[in-house]
Amino acid sequence: MKFFVDTADIKEIEELAQTGLLDGVTTNPSLIKKSGRDFKATIKEICAIVKGPVSAEVVATDYDGMVRQGEDLATIAKNVTIKVPMTLEGLRACKYFTEKGTMVNVTLCFSPSQALLAAKAGATFISPFVGRLDDISMDGMQLIHDIVTIYNNYPNFETEVLVASVRHPMHIVEAAKIGAHVVTAPAGVLKALVNHPLTDKGLDAFLKDWAATGQKL
Ligand code: E4P
Repeated sequence: MKFFVDTADIKEIEELAQTGLLDGVTTNPSLIKKSGRDFKATIKEICAIVKGPVSAEVVATDYDGMVRQGEDLATIAKNVTIKVPMTLEGLRACKYFTEKGTMVNVTLCFSPSQALLAAKAGATFISPFVGRLDDISMDGMQLIHDIVTIYNNYPNFETEVLVASVRHPMHIVEAAKIGAHVVTAPAGVLKALVNHPLTDKGLDAFLKDWAATGQKL
């Protein structure tokens, strides 16, 4: 399973990149707003840190506008992935960029039918938002299950399921059990994957016993 971090915060990205466990980055207009920084400069900086896919989202809603903005964003670096919304215009733009060999992430997916369309449009990634479904008392993880089942039925589909809107570590574990290809999560959620009280307790005991031996390494 690939791990992407869902942030436009350079410090967070640098810290996670150092672990060697980070495969890519996703951003969106809200995360850019939160960063308070220039969009294109931020994407350029991220692409220099992380060699894997870095999603940069268009904000036009018409095909021509998406193509124009996407073409511009794609000049920033080879690993820029154009993020387009799950609309008919977005799917048309997806097909355009895919045919040009540019990676595309179709975002704001909330149903299996939408994911089916993204695969037909040749998307590199489909982003189903699990947390936002859970937020309205729907089953976000069921959507991941449905999409993975559908995609597995058609081996010619190359689209990877990128689980998005992740709120906690168990979203990641459940998505991995289902077989989703990628997860994008806030830095705090990715870091929380390592936590276990018995690990802390065990390490503490080992270190105390080691100190008691009086030996040095
Ligand atoms: C994915 O690409 C989105 O940026 C993101 O996962 C949305 O998450 P949210 O629902 O926490 O805003």
